[in-house]
Amino acid sequence: MSRSVRLVPAVVALLALTATACQGGVHGAPGGSGVHDPYFPRAGNGGYDVGHYALTLGYAPATRHLTGTAVITARATRDLSAFDLDLAGLDVESVTVEGAKARWNRTGQELTVRPHDDLSKGETFRTTVRYSGTPKTLTDPDGSEEGWLPTADGALALGEPVGSMAWFPGNDHPSDKATYDITVTVPKGLQAVSNGELTGRSDEGGRSTYRWHTAQPMASYLAMVAIGHYTIKRTAGPHGLPVLTAVDPTQTKASAGVLAKIPEILDWEEFNFGPYPFASAGAVVDRPHDAGYALETQTRPVFPGAPDTGTLVHELAHQWYGDSVTPASWRDMWLNEGFATYAEWLWEEDQDGKSAQQTFTEYYEGDHEEIWAFPPAKPSSAAHISGSPVYVRGAMVLQKIRRKVGDDLFYDILQGWAATRRHATASTADFTAYVEKQAPGKDFTGIWKDWLYGDGKPSRP
Ligand code: TRP
Ligand code: ZN
Repeated sequence: MSRSVRLVPAVVALLALTATACQGGVHGAPGGSGVHDPYFPRAGNGGYDVGHYALTLGYAPATRHLTGTAVITARATRDLSAFDLDLAGLDVESVTVEGAKARWNRTGQELTVRPHDDLSKGETFRTTVRYSGTPKTLTDPDGSEEGWLPTADGALALGEPVGSMAWFPGNDHPSDKATYDITVTVPKGLQAVSNGELTGRSDEGGRSTYRWHTAQPMASYLAMVAIGHYTIKRTAGPHGLPVLTAVDPTQTKASAGVLAKIPEILDWEEFNFGPYPFASAGAVVDRPHDAGYALETQTRPVFPGAPDTGTLVHELAHQWYGDSVTPASWRDMWLNEGFATYAEWLWEEDQDGKSAQQTFTEYYEGDHEEIWAFPPAKPSSAAHISGSPVYVRGAMVLQKIRRKVGDDLFYDILQGWAATRRHATASTADFTAYVEKQAPGKDFTGIWKDWLYGDGKPSRP
């Protein structure tokens, strides 16, 4: 309503000074530069909820120059005079909100946007950011690289935990999932692969454009672009699910066998975890790159060279646990990694290898000090969110639950958890409450206290 009222400049200036003190929702306040993540306090932003990102990118590997237009559709969750987007590096050329030129400034990773008119709580608004430059490779607290990674013949954009801000402005925190359209133009002869379904491909003036559509909500850290020479293959998974793999030509031989198992693994995971949560699946296999890790980017995980079967099982399991059911904060990482690691144990058990209980016992009895360094649900710092307590002891928590409730209820819990939080976010407290509700007669206090939140090695396996 304030937007239709014309005010003399002196009053406008006065109101701007006192904006935060205004009552009654006539004028908004700034949205806030973070969402209080315990490990990445500046990640994400307050005051709005993104519904959709439309990203139009152009990239020239020879010069490493990126041009981008991000159209972000969001809903204000309170009256806003300004709001932040996360963006690391790159040059911003213009910002508009609802078609009107907006003022903006930058401090570190915060791009603060001051719309021409205040936004009212509940209002849906469109922000368009035009930007360009050489995108950055970011180094995480644990020393690993993410963001924009130039490769031998193109680039890889990977975003866990806070790397998406290196290639597009947004609300870079898993608590704000959104749908995406990612359009990438590259020199002709190169491919551009991203999440979701390929909805268009065209050539013009020596350049090729690829349009990718993600219809199910996605956390920003799971958005991915892979640019380079890839052999693209389409097959079908369970119930005709479209499976698209993109493989660097140097990796085709080594990866053909393992990638052929995708339909079988997805089928096995559906049997154990419930319906596959997305409209397509697949994988990107690049040549081994600097980052050196696999990542469960939504619908299409990325691998640095041909993965082994266990790693493929792990990244595909993340489609349920991590990508569909997404951690509410980076503290809840074990809900991703504990589950994906446990999927590897289960796969081995079902392939007539070691049982999950044997794997558990080997870790418990073996010389693995690193597993006990900190509790899985409370990593000691941002540098440790991907440490082995999160992966291995997280998986051990699930094996403890399985022993407590028995196989039937345990598999119900695995499937029910994926179903009840499908396409949403969840915290550790949500999970423990869910387990307790499914098994009312059982006492989990010891498991939570010693295995999930406790320091040091629990005294009994
Ligand atoms: N999530 C990846 C996996 O599948 C590992 C990983 C890569 C990671 N980058 C990260 C974990 C950053 C935490 C933070 O196991
Ligand atoms: Zn993982």
